[in-house]
Amino acid sequence: MHSGITQVNSQKYSIRTFAIGACILSLACSSPEPAAQQQPASSHSVTDAAFGSTASGEDVRLYTLTNSKGEEAKITNYGGIIVSLEVPDREGNLGDVMLGYDSVDDYIKDTPYFGALIGRYGNRIAKGKFTLDGNAYELAVNDGPNALHGGLKGFDKVVWSAEPLAGEESAGLVLSYVSQDGEEGYPGTLSVKVTYRWTNDSEIRIDYEATTDKPTVLNLTNHAYFNLKDGGASSILDHALMIQADGFTPIDETLIPTGEIRPVEGTPFDFRQATAIGARIGDDNEQLKFGLGYDHNFVLNRTGDGLVLAARVSEPTTGRVLEALTTEPGIQLYTGNFLDGHLVGKGGTAYAHRSAFCLETQHFPNSPNQPDFPSTALLPGETYRTTTVYRFTAM
Ligand code: GLA
Repeated sequence: MHSGITQVNSQKYSIRTFAIGACILSLACSSPEPAAQQQPASSHSVTDAAFGSTASGEDVRLYTLTNSKGEEAKITNYGGIIVSLEVPDREGNLGDVMLGYDSVDDYIKDTPYFGALIGRYGNRIAKGKFTLDGNAYELAVNDGPNALHGGLKGFDKVVWSAEPLAGEESAGLVLSYVSQDGEEGYPGTLSVKVTYRWTNDSEIRIDYEATTDKPTVLNLTNHAYFNLKDGGASSILDHALMIQADGFTPIDETLIPTGEIRPVEGTPFDFRQATAIGARIGDDNEQLKFGLGYDHNFVLNRTGDGLVLAARVSEPTTGRVLEALTTEPGIQLYTGNFLDGHLVGKGGTAYAHRSAFCLETQHFPNSPNQPDFPSTALLPGETYRTTTVYRFTAM
């Protein structure tokens, strides 16, 4: 059974939902109907606009979630991608902290998963093979010898159904997708629902839910690339990072965990005290060589199944702080090692080496082939539920 099957029931997050159609939530929407009937009391809103279409002609929308402080989160139903997040620095100046593109065409053309939903399996499965219930499954190999991030057409490349969601403390968007039995080699018809909420406390909360009609494996995440200083115009090596993990899962040269859980103590992977990301990234260390920097899963310290603070990142010049909370057992720290300046993103910014960091909350890579890792199996009759929150403040 999937060890991430838990429900987080915090009072703070109890949300009253409204059944609404596209646009009705928008204060700016020029609906002829008296919008007031459908409006929640606060001033947050969801609007949507055209964002282009896919090669097969599917309509893609860009949703703007505005919280009561006027901060905007933009999310598209193509890949469930978070396109931008506007958060204040210590002076109150809003800035976009996400890498991404201005148009869906650019996301379709070439993206290292900027801001996208990842599924069915976040990170790698060795050789693209696993066995479940005595049946052998074979996935496309799309990363050296391994399968990465759901395959050739993972959840980052499909168009999701989208419904705006009004809550008392947030503006939200519910994305749904049914992945067919055998899609990208994975067994079972999988119904997935991802709820994004952009709260009045500047948190992006992501609730993942899924059911299957056959035993399968599942490991959903979001692949946000963050740069708290300027959204990707400069390096993240000066950002200070804290990860609440006493251990990490060392990898082989193809980035597959060896199965060991190694203490971080005395290694460049010890982020239990906030340390600049760049402080040890160039150390003479085999693990850093295999990852070309940090590209590793950390084993989070936790006692129960609930939301825990996994990581905190602060940027010294702007004072922006990001906290990642999750119900998941692991988090992948990736330091933009494959970025090399050839991808030109929002506003014409060329994304250079290490101009972003990712903190992908997850079960451990290659769990289907590692019986000692927390299980990623999902069985018929079970409901997969995980939650991740990225919370922004300034200091
Ligand atoms: C994850 C992987 C990295 C890389 C990025 C996308 O973080 O672990 O190795 O594939 O996604 O480029």
